[in-house]
Amino acid sequence: MPSPQNLFVTCAPGVEPFLDAELESLRISKRERQVGGVSFEGGWRDVWRANLELRTAIRVLSRVGRFQARNADELYRGVMKVDWSRFLGPESTLAVRGQARDSELDHTLFVAQRVKDAVCDQLRERTGLRPSVDKNSPTLRIHAHIFKDRCTLSVDTSGDSLHRRGWREIQGRAPLSESLASALLIASGWDKRQPLLDPFCGSGTFLVEGAWMAMDRAPGLERSFAFEGWPGHDAAAFAKLREELRARVKPLGKRVIWGADSDPEIVEAAQHNLERAGLSDCVRVERADARAFAPRHGWNAQVMTNPPFGERVSEERKLIKVYEGFGEALREHAGGFRVSLLSGNINLARSTGLPNPKEWMDIKNGALDCRLLSWQL
Ligand SMILES: C[S@@+](CC[C@H](N)C(=O)[O-])C[C@H]1O[C@@H](n2cnc3c(N)ncnc32)[C@H](O)[C@@H]1O
Repeated sequence: MPSPQNLFVTCAPGVEPFLDAELESLRISKRERQVGGVSFEGGWRDVWRANLELRTAIRVLSRVGRFQARNADELYRGVMKVDWSRFLGPESTLAVRGQARDSELDHTLFVAQRVKDAVCDQLRERTGLRPSVDKNSPTLRIHAHIFKDRCTLSVDTSGDSLHRRGWREIQGRAPLSESLASALLIASGWDKRQPLLDPFCGSGTFLVEGAWMAMDRAPGLERSFAFEGWPGHDAAAFAKLREELRARVKPLGKRVIWGADSDPEIVEAAQHNLERAGLSDCVRVERADARAFAPRHGWNAQVMTNPPFGERVSEERKLIKVYEGFGEALREHAGGFRVSLLSGNINLARSTGLPNPKEWMDIKNGALDCRLLSWQL
């Protein structure tokens, strides 16, 4: 299988610098930060490592073609030039996502349809097979992006979005994406040795992601990826890499990772998730009201939390009391701690009574505009 050359790793808006730093730590040097991701040049081992090890990424795309596409025929001919038998075998299924901007071809569904037709026609001519379309879980996802009449064609090497690590079975009420939670943990400056405390832990996203970071456990270690089903995939070499990463995992040891939530059902859900993540014997979750947060004095801890915003969980007026009480508990018991709070509502954050934060970062949490606010108490 030829080596992929031009790769683009996607991430949530605002996460690009953290993704870039992660790629740097994988020793990937020819990188370029762009809006919504980072591009780089690399070989198959880089693709594998990016999929297995990046905590803040969403997908790893490999560019397979770039050509002029001012009309449907040019698009069709450009797609036909790619050798699709590299990615599709007899059992394969296919989905195409079209995007178009500032171009003659501006109908994204039409673009997707035309690309799909060209791929299927090529395979039928060469092999007699016609792959079927599966919009939900295809073995190959193709992205066709047309900008100013130039089409960039990419194949998605990841398959399911990389935020799906496999541990989350129960959602909680307003769960954070795993990739975003990891980015926020990195942004908070948590050093992976300090106690990590989440008094509004919900389904346990910060706890699992933090524990896996501290254990050096690759987030994709036990999941599958699209490229594993492609013809010519070197399964033996990939299995060896997985084994190397498994051998790297360290126990959490004495490090403290703790969470609480006031809702007993959510606590049960978090415990279930921790069990699936292999963490039930080293990460503790309990039922507690964040207004009674009273961690041990003198801990140099990191509080990393995402209290309810009022949009999805409950109403703002009721929540003001919760934020006031939580702020009081922090002032009383968390002297010397670092506190990072993901806030989707600045009025609520102010109700903690903490001073205006010196550090903040704007971030998109799905469709919500949020801010990560940090204090050194
Ligand atoms: C936005 S969700 C947290 C989501 C979490 N980060 C996750 O990824 O699943 C807020 C959580 O705060 C909990 N909560 C609400 N009021 C609380 C209180 N007074 N004390 C502790 N937890 C509370 C809710 O039950 C909910 O699970």
